[in-house]
Amino acid sequence: MSDQQQFDVVVIGGGPAGYHAAIRAAQLGLKTACVDAALGKDGKPALGGTCLRVGCIPSKALLDSSRQFWNMGHIFGEHGIGFDKPSIDVKKMVARKDGIVKQFTGGIAALFKANKVAAFYGYGQLQPGNIVRVKQHDGSEVELHGTNVIIAAGSDSIELPFAKFGEHIVDNVGALDFDKVPKRLGVIGAGVIGLELGSVWNRLGAQVTVLEGLPNFLAAADAEVAKVAAREFKKQGLDIRLGCKVSNTEVKKDGVHVFYTDDKGEQEIVVDKLLVSVGRRAATKGLLADGTGVQLDPRGFVVVDDHCHTGVDGIWAIGDCVRGPMLAHKGFEEGIAVAELIAGLPGHVNYDTIPWVIYTEPEIAWVGKTEEQLKAEGIPYKSGSFPFAAVGRAVAMAEPIGFVKVLAHADTDRILGMHLVGPNVSELVHEGVLSMEFKGSADDLARICHAHPSLSEAVHDAAMAVHKRAIHKAN
Ligand code: NAI
Repeated sequence: MSDQQQFDVVVIGGGPAGYHAAIRAAQLGLKTACVDAALGKDGKPALGGTCLRVGCIPSKALLDSSRQFWNMGHIFGEHGIGFDKPSIDVKKMVARKDGIVKQFTGGIAALFKANKVAAFYGYGQLQPGNIVRVKQHDGSEVELHGTNVIIAAGSDSIELPFAKFGEHIVDNVGALDFDKVPKRLGVIGAGVIGLELGSVWNRLGAQVTVLEGLPNFLAAADAEVAKVAAREFKKQGLDIRLGCKVSNTEVKKDGVHVFYTDDKGEQEIVVDKLLVSVGRRAATKGLLADGTGVQLDPRGFVVVDDHCHTGVDGIWAIGDCVRGPMLAHKGFEEGIAVAELIAGLPGHVNYDTIPWVIYTEPEIAWVGKTEEQLKAEGIPYKSGSFPFAAVGRAVAMAEPIGFVKVLAHADTDRILGMHLVGPNVSELVHEGVLSMEFKGSADDLARICHAHPSLSEAVHDAAMAVHKRAIHKAN
C-alpha cells in the first residue's frame, strides 16, 4: 500500500538540472521533493547525477592527477626541476577521485537538508495527474503529488549493439575505474568523453587509439581550434583515426579485437580495454506511465517548449533528457529558470551563450558561433586572433600553445563568438560569455583593462586584433 504526500514541486532526478531546480524552488518557499534512484560505489544513495558521480567531477579529478604526472615528465624539466623516474599508484589516484565524489554527492544531500528539500531515494515514475510513484530502495512504494513536476531524468551512455559493455568494453563509468593503466586502450568516438578520458590514460602511459566515424576532427568546434588541438594531441601520442566505420568487436584471450573500415579498406586493432563514447541518450525508458500526456520525440527526449514546459499542465522537463546540449551547466540554468517560472518570476535561459569546454591539454573552449557557422548563415563578420606564444604569462608557465579568436559582426561590431584553445581557457571563455550576454562589442572588450601579466591578455589582444590594433603582434 502506498500513501500519498503533497508537494508544490516534485523533481524527478537529483542531477545537476534536478538539484538546482529543487534547491531554487525551496529557496522560493515552495514545498519541494526530489526523487533520485542512483547509488554510489558504496551502495548508498548518491545525489548529483552523472556529473558528480561518474562525469564532470570524477573525470576532472583524474584529468588533474594525470596532468600532474604528465607535467613531471614533460614540463618540469623546462623549469630545471629534476627527479628520479615518476611513478603512478593508480589505485590511490582512483581512491582520491572517489573521495572527491563522496564529498560532493554528500554535499548535495546536506544542501537539501539545509533548504528543506525532501529527498526520496528510489526510481520515480510519472503517473497521470501529476503523481510520481517512487519504488524506494527498501522495497516500499510512496506516491508524491506535485502541483508541479519537473522531469530531470538525465541521460545514459549509448551502447553499440556489437560492443556490449562489460569488463573489457566500457563506457565513461568503467573508464574512470581501471585498476591499472591499460597497455593498449581503444576509444570509439573522438568526442568530449573520448578525448578527455583518452587523454587521462594516454598521459599515464597507455597506448591510445581513437576511432572516429566522421571525416573531420571535432566538427562542432571552430576549424582552426580543432586543427591546433589535433596537432597537439598527436604530439602527445594520441592516435586519432578519422572516417572509421567500426563494424564489430570480439573479446578474445589477447584482448578486444575491433574491426573497422576506413578509406584504405578493412582494418583491425587489438586493445586491452575499449572505451565506447559515441554519445548519450535521454534516460526516459520506463519513466512515463501510460496516459500522462507527456510526449517523447523519436530519440526519446521529452518534448518541451522554449521554457521547458511539456504542454501538460504543471509538468516541466529540463537537462539532458530534453533538447539542447548535454552539459551540466545548461541543466543548472534550466533548473533555476523553471523553479522561478513556477514561482511566478521571469525565469529564462539564453541558449546562445552557453559555453563549451573540453578539458584536454590544451583545453578547448568556445561560446557562440564558429566562423563556419557564420559563413553558412551569410552573417558578415570580422575576426581577431592572438596566440598564447606572445603572452608573457603563458610563456612563463611553459604553456605557450594555442590562441584566442574573437568573432564580431562586421557592421555592428557585436561579439558573435569566442573560440579558444590553450592553457586555462575553461576559465577565459567566460569573458566571451559575459561580453555576449551584455551584448558587448569587440571594441568594448578591447577597451577593458586586463591585468598584466595574465592569460586573459590573449582575450584582450584578440579583441584588439578584430580592429587590427593588437599591440603585441603584427596586425
Ligand atoms: P559526443 O557527442 O561528444 O561525441 C561522440 C563522438 O562519437 C562523435 O564525434 C561522433 O561522430 C562519434 N561517433 C558516433 N558514433 C560512432 C561510431 N559508431 N563509430 C565511431 N565514431 C562514432 O559524445 P560523448 O563523448 O559520448 O559525450 C556525451 C555527452 O556528454 C556529450 O554530449 C557532452 O556534451 C557531454 N560531456 C561533456 C563534457 C564537458 O562538457 N567537458 C565532458 C563529458 C561529456
